[in-house]
Amino acid sequence: MNLYILTKHLHLTCVVLSISLFIFRTGIRWIPIQRLQSVKILKILPHVIDTVLLCSGLYLAYLLSFPYFIMVKLFAVFLYILFGFGVMKFAKNRRQALLYFTGSMTCLLFVLGCALCKTTDITLWPQIISGRFF
Ligand code: HEM
Repeated sequence: MNLYILTKHLHLTCVVLSISLFIFRTGIRWIPIQRLQSVKILKILPHVIDTVLLCSGLYLAYLLSFPYFIMVKLFAVFLYILFGFGVMKFAKNRRQALLYFTGSMTCLLFVLGCALCKTTDITLWPQIISGRFF
């Protein structure tokens, strides 16, 4: 297996782990178990995974000579992270957390669309996605 394929597998593993952990960490805000919210590993692990996700993504982008759709995707990832901070740090109540969470999921859908369709032209996405999966 070449280095590109290996890095892409690592990137995709981090994508799944990062999204699952983010949804889980947001979800436990609604469960009144204080101990679960202060588990140390749940605070450290997302940073480790997100760093590997970012580095592997940047390395893949470097190998592909930084195409335009990846740069736009990187900006959307940045917004996704900002909204994520909103959920974890700035939200003062559950309603605000839900608003930030909705923002982050919108960015995430855009990131996934760019990644899977390899274009920022949203009007082409339905055609590309249906060709890819159906
Ligand atoms: C929430 C964050 C991210 C998600 C959900 C995500 C998702 C994905 C997915 C699903 C793929 C596979 C696309 C395919 O099937 O070919 C992919 C590939 C890739 N990602 Fe990400 N990614 C994220 C962050 C990043 C970051 C921060 C970068 C860095 C600029 C990046 C750069 C790349 C590159 C260069 C590829 C390879 C594209 C190709 O093979 O044409 N990703 N990403």
